[in-house]
Amino acid sequence: VLDSEWGGVLDLNRVEDALKKAAYKLVTVVHSETSTGAVNPIREIGEIVRRHSALYLVDAISSLGALPLSMDDMGIDLCATGSQKALGSITGLSIVGVAPRAYEVMRARKQVCQSYALDLGRWPGMFLNKQSSRPYPVIPSTHLVYALQTACRLVLEEGLPARLERHRRFAEATRRAVAAIGLELFPDRRVVGDSLTGVKPPSGLHDSRITEIMRDKHGIIVGGGLYDLKGKLFRISHMGVQASPLYLLPTLDALEKTLAELGHKFERGAALAEFARHA
Ligand SMILES: Cc1ncc(COP(=O)(O)O)c(C=O)c1O
Repeated sequence: VLDSEWGGVLDLNRVEDALKKAAYKLVTVVHSETSTGAVNPIREIGEIVRRHSALYLVDAISSLGALPLSMDDMGIDLCATGSQKALGSITGLSIVGVAPRAYEVMRARKQVCQSYALDLGRWPGMFLNKQSSRPYPVIPSTHLVYALQTACRLVLEEGLPARLERHRRFAEATRRAVAAIGLELFPDRRVVGDSLTGVKPPSGLHDSRITEIMRDKHGIIVGGGLYDLKGKLFRISHMGVQASPLYLLPTLDALEKTLAELGHKFERGAALAEFARHA
């Protein structure tokens, strides 16, 4: 495992060195790190992985639908996302993209896959073969598929470029809004993505003090810090429908009210005004 500091991204030289030292069959990386908001250089890592002929699996769980991502252009062989994040549907489905190279490797397996339902090698023969007597190896959750279909229709109606631009615009407006009330952003702006905004609580304040008041008193849920960042970070999501003033203005309003209640000194209304200026 190649780790980086919390809020950091993978160093390309370390990826190259690791692949030179040993022959790996598969390299996997998270695109948008939901626990910090940092975004790994997917295309650049893909170029390195190609040179070493490993398969490349990308976790696009909080990026697909919010950030530019193309399996073909970025050399991705396997890509997984969830229905409930930037695609904006409800929770319960994993969507996996499998490129031909990955199917080739599955076809050449000597050992039979131990899972029936999770054996992706079964899917093309049934799902893609119109003559197949059954379209799915397992019974699908039809209500989840219909919900995802509607979410995807909304993506198509808006158009992907417009959707990505909306995420960029409201992410930037959110970042500027929290900075306007004296809060520090995390991670560094150079690696941050547009799915969520990480914010450091004012010094001496545990993030749960803020997130609990926002939730219990003002009815707005924002994420707290995880693991090493527990107490040190809270996270405002702006994925899918949330990348909108409809969600972000009440969130920033609740944040201002909460901080004022906790005694943080700032100009009241500054976050909302700054958001409006850039939204
Ligand atoms: C980047 C990333 N990977 C994996 C997961 C796990 O997804 P799930 O809880 O749907 O299995 C999450 C969930 O938050 C995530 O954000």
